[in-house]
Amino acid sequence: MTAVGDIGGKTTDRRAVISVLRRLRSPAGQSNPFPLYEELRAMGDVVPAPWGGHFVTSFELCNQILRGRNWLVPDFAWLDRQTDTERWRAPATREMFNTLSRLNAPVHTMRRRSLGRLFDHSTVEDMRPQVEAHVGHLLEDLETQLRAHGSADLVATVSDPLPMHTIGRWLDIPAEDYAHILDFTHRQVHAQELLPSKSELAISAKSTIEMRQYFTELIRRRRARPGDDVLSDWIRHWDKEAPDDRAGADEVLYSLTMFVTIASLETTATLLSSLVRLLIDEPSRWDWLRRHPEHIDNAVEETLRYDPPIHLNSRFSAEDTVLSGVPIAKDTTVHVMYGVANHDPRVNENPHVFDILRGGGAHLTFGGGVHYCLGAALARLEAHTLLRHLLKRFPTLRPAASPTYASRMVFRCMTSLRVTT
Ligand code: HEM
Repeated sequence: MTAVGDIGGKTTDRRAVISVLRRLRSPAGQSNPFPLYEELRAMGDVVPAPWGGHFVTSFELCNQILRGRNWLVPDFAWLDRQTDTERWRAPATREMFNTLSRLNAPVHTMRRRSLGRLFDHSTVEDMRPQVEAHVGHLLEDLETQLRAHGSADLVATVSDPLPMHTIGRWLDIPAEDYAHILDFTHRQVHAQELLPSKSELAISAKSTIEMRQYFTELIRRRRARPGDDVLSDWIRHWDKEAPDDRAGADEVLYSLTMFVTIASLETTATLLSSLVRLLIDEPSRWDWLRRHPEHIDNAVEETLRYDPPIHLNSRFSAEDTVLSGVPIAKDTTVHVMYGVANHDPRVNENPHVFDILRGGGAHLTFGGGVHYCLGAALARLEAHTLLRHLLKRFPTLRPAASPTYASRMVFRCMTSLRVTT
């Protein structure tokens, strides 16, 4: 047994957390989950989940789990051990288990290596002018709508399209397909949620078929006319890796292209919307940052800490262990609570204060260890660029209505943020 931490799991009642989970999914809970997260933290660093397994709320423990070699991501072998077959054998659920985020070594190592350092410094610098240009166009649209209607929805006008344009241009995806990709991505995500309903799983099943059709066809077309783009490079790589197995190469290419695309969309859109929401909710903050643009990166980082786009991720134990005094049997699932961990007062003083000048507040928003997010630098570039332009162009931007959120526990999703000037 490996002891990991010694801080105290207090609650042993598996049903204690049910009321918190119910309220978390409500509109009020989505708009401000942090008081509920405090209730969860008060139950301990390791809180039993009603379906077995545990929620982990402490920053230190979450960090150790993400980086620990004895913790694995739920993979196909894990999936086949689950007894709730309706949930875990659903095709939409299984589809995601061939993606990087659900693979363990050695397959994960090989696939991740094949991508190299996706968004290293020079790639991000090469992408900067395009991102600047996209932001310019989108803010034109925003201004037109504000002039015509007095208010506009920032999510639909800017936050959703910007990551789509960015990844779409990088993969050389035709712009006329962007709306379709955004549409099936929003619908597919239910299968990746913690407690999807039957009807949500059915929605995901249909969108999974559309998603597979779309990316399979994209790869087929690119193979027929390869060019000087990232996807063509991946095709050349995997054709060399598997010269006698074209179907196998195509399956890997499908999973990589599909996942890199969808992993970049809602996450970044939520960061952009939360960033603007947190700043315009307090007009003095917006005004201060406008006069101190040298702190734009700090504002982005504090938003990532304060309200991460992904609030929960899962791992399972590869061996019997002990977490904060709680025995964890081999194969037990734990839910790493990014949103709770980032507000742990033991690592961030006054964690519920949004403080641009906090200076390097600790956060786990991009995960950790071998699965650390491959797109962190790109997301930061998009957020920085958008904010710099917004502050300059809309000095009096403010909310026109309360934001609305989808009822989610894993992927935060602001569905509207009406703004005015
Ligand atoms: C603010 C935006 C984003 C957030 C908050 C975010 C967050 C995350 C998190 C939490 C993980 C899982 C880490 C773990 O399991 O330890 C992850 C993995 C990943 N992300 Fe991101 N992400 C963002 C944007 C992006 C973008 C823009 C891309 C690509 C263009 C991307 C591509 C990926 C990929 C490919 C993985 C899987 C890595 C692996 O399992 O090896 N992400 N991301």
